[in-house]
Amino acid sequence: MTAEYKVLDGVALITLDNPPVNGLSHATRQGIVDGMNQALADDGVQAIVITGAGKAFSGGADITEFGKEAAMREPNLHSVIGVVENASKPVVAAIHTVVMGGGLELALACHYRVVASGTKVALPEVKLGLLPGAGGTQRLPRAIGVEAALNMIVSGESVDADLLASMPGQKLFDEVVQQPEQLLQEALAFAKSVAKVKDLPKVRDLPAKHPQGEAFFQFARNTVGAVAKNLPAPLKCVEAVEAATKMKFNDGLAKERELFINLMWTPESRALRHLFFAERAASKINDVPADTPKREIKAVGVIGAGTMGGGIAMNFLNAGIPVTILETKQEALDRGLATIGKNYEAQVKKGKLAQDKYEARMALLKPTLSYDDLKDVDLVIEAVFEDMGVKEQVFKKLDEVLKPGAILASNTSTLDLNQIAAFTKRPQDVVGLHFFSPANVMKLLEVVRGEKTAHDVLATVMALAKKIRKVAVVAGVTDGFIGNRMIEQYGRQAGFLLDEGATPQQVDKAIEKFGFAMGPFRMGDLAGNDIGWAIRKRRAVEKPDMRYSKTADLLCEKGRFGQKTGAGWYDYEPGKREPIVNQEVLEMIEQHRKDIGITPRKISDEEIVQRLVLSLVNEGARIVEEGFAQRASDIDIVYLYGYGFPFWRGGPMNYANELGLFNVVETMKRFAKNPHDDAQFWQPAPLLAQLAKEGKQFK
Ligand code: NAI
Repeated sequence: MTAEYKVLDGVALITLDNPPVNGLSHATRQGIVDGMNQALADDGVQAIVITGAGKAFSGGADITEFGKEAAMREPNLHSVIGVVENASKPVVAAIHTVVMGGGLELALACHYRVVASGTKVALPEVKLGLLPGAGGTQRLPRAIGVEAALNMIVSGESVDADLLASMPGQKLFDEVVQQPEQLLQEALAFAKSVAKVKDLPKVRDLPAKHPQGEAFFQFARNTVGAVAKNLPAPLKCVEAVEAATKMKFNDGLAKERELFINLMWTPESRALRHLFFAERAASKINDVPADTPKREIKAVGVIGAGTMGGGIAMNFLNAGIPVTILETKQEALDRGLATIGKNYEAQVKKGKLAQDKYEARMALLKPTLSYDDLKDVDLVIEAVFEDMGVKEQVFKKLDEVLKPGAILASNTSTLDLNQIAAFTKRPQDVVGLHFFSPANVMKLLEVVRGEKTAHDVLATVMALAKKIRKVAVVAGVTDGFIGNRMIEQYGRQAGFLLDEGATPQQVDKAIEKFGFAMGPFRMGDLAGNDIGWAIRKRRAVEKPDMRYSKTADLLCEKGRFGQKTGAGWYDYEPGKREPIVNQEVLEMIEQHRKDIGITPRKISDEEIVQRLVLSLVNEGARIVEEGFAQRASDIDIVYLYGYGFPFWRGGPMNYANELGLFNVVETMKRFAKNPHDDAQFWQPAPLLAQLAKEGKQFK
């Protein structure tokens, strides 16, 4: 059953019942049409109410039908809407909790709408690179006015029903029910009150006009175009709404349809839809069932109040979870607390955080120098110096003082989590929680699964990640986990590009034009070039044959560590982040080319982009095939949320799929022939080679 039918005192009640949010699947749509036909054929029925069971009126399309034939199978949403709108008996939508996308389009086709106070209303299609394709762009402007509708359609954000209902002249809601539990009763009464109406009101018959017409849309195009940049959908939303004001209703519908279909085929929409599913997939751990019991996390400890510790603590304070933060010295503790305070104060100043909330959050923070204060916490996250000796001390101490069942997490970015776990007598309770800097801002969290990490620990931290609004991806214990293991290869390619003739600014510009938030050299300057230097020194011992460009070492030998020293690949004015080209660095690069006997050549932006991005793809494929990531789409999530990969390209693995894996492999073979590059580097990962051969894609 996906739509239930019953008759209550002369009113037919059709209840959508497709948990969790009454998505409009084929069976649900069929249920609505069957219910409508039954009601229309029954002389005892005077009016019809459509509502939703459980947690929504309807959240819109059923995501399991996305991009599949079932989504369009008759009765498709257009047909359902036709049946409802053209019904000879009044149809009332009884709306509560959530009405979104196709759900709102269905409601807009009803003759009347009764809504429960507090309902969230949205047309979120733009977030998937689409526009509402079942009349939403034509009916919503007629119901709430052109400007308000355009805002909702272009932003995709949800708006409170009460706010919409308070807008003068609005025709979206006929009645707001203050007590949501009385919605059905009120809607049934409303249906009876309109049962005799012969000339049934239809939103499609209302006018859609904006007083400034032309000028308004010109303004909208300019503003939306400036913000949307690489995404085609927002401007198409403007075009569709403009059509509502200029065309006859049916012509506007046809225009909306045409725009919708065109958007469906854009790589940007495919990327955003991929991302939507990738995010859901990332939260699942293949061998940890969703119903695995979780441990309760009511209080958290953080060890180390430095760059990461402070940011990590803020995540929990923001979620209302008390944090005890521990340092070795009072002075370090004071400094850490002051930084947290300053961060919140900046938010208060910007009007993003209310003063009382700031105070409430700070009140949840308990500074300490004593491990005794940690004996009641449920989870501890260690963020001390990146040194195995220091980690050993800390974990042994934690093992002594923490209560049984507490989770011990490390924020290490390079050290072996299994070794850290072995410092304790409870390796099953140890997990990696690798936050990204700034930890209170960056959405990514790599959850590092040790050899012995217990299932319920994993289930607990995945749920906790959601609570603190992070996107968590599970990684295995491999050097650099997912993100940094890949970025090392990307950095190596960036170095080879310098050796062959590119400048840091050319490389940065090319990849930023591709859509990255920041090119590799600006990123190095921001993160600190000394970090990569330390890693290369380690690699020189572990893998003495590995080729890499020496330019970054030469830079570090000059003490040019990046923004923190005011000089890196670029120069920086004190307190500013704008990169300024430094002649000496360019000369250093040139000299190095001479020293290694390379005659520089002109390298195209396209080659730069392909070499950088495909280096990520190849290492990503290796990580999946070696089992350190569960699926290729997890790699995309890591790059989108942790490394500034352009959203509208859907991540490196999705980008490779778009290029076609056969082409990717062929391009790599070409790069392998470059004598100044590393032929080994460009051997396609076996998984990639296999998929390309079979004509398949990364999943
Ligand atoms: P940091 O040097 O800013 O902070 C470390 C803090 O730990 C200092 O305040 C220090 O006083 C304190 N500390 C040192 N030994 C301690 C001990 N035995 N007990 C208590 N406190 C102690 O370092 P940062 O950058 O915050 O890094 C911390 C950890 O986070 C490292 O493992 C690092 O690899 C990892 N990490 C760092 C990232 C970054 O971008 N900085 C990103 C992701 C992970």
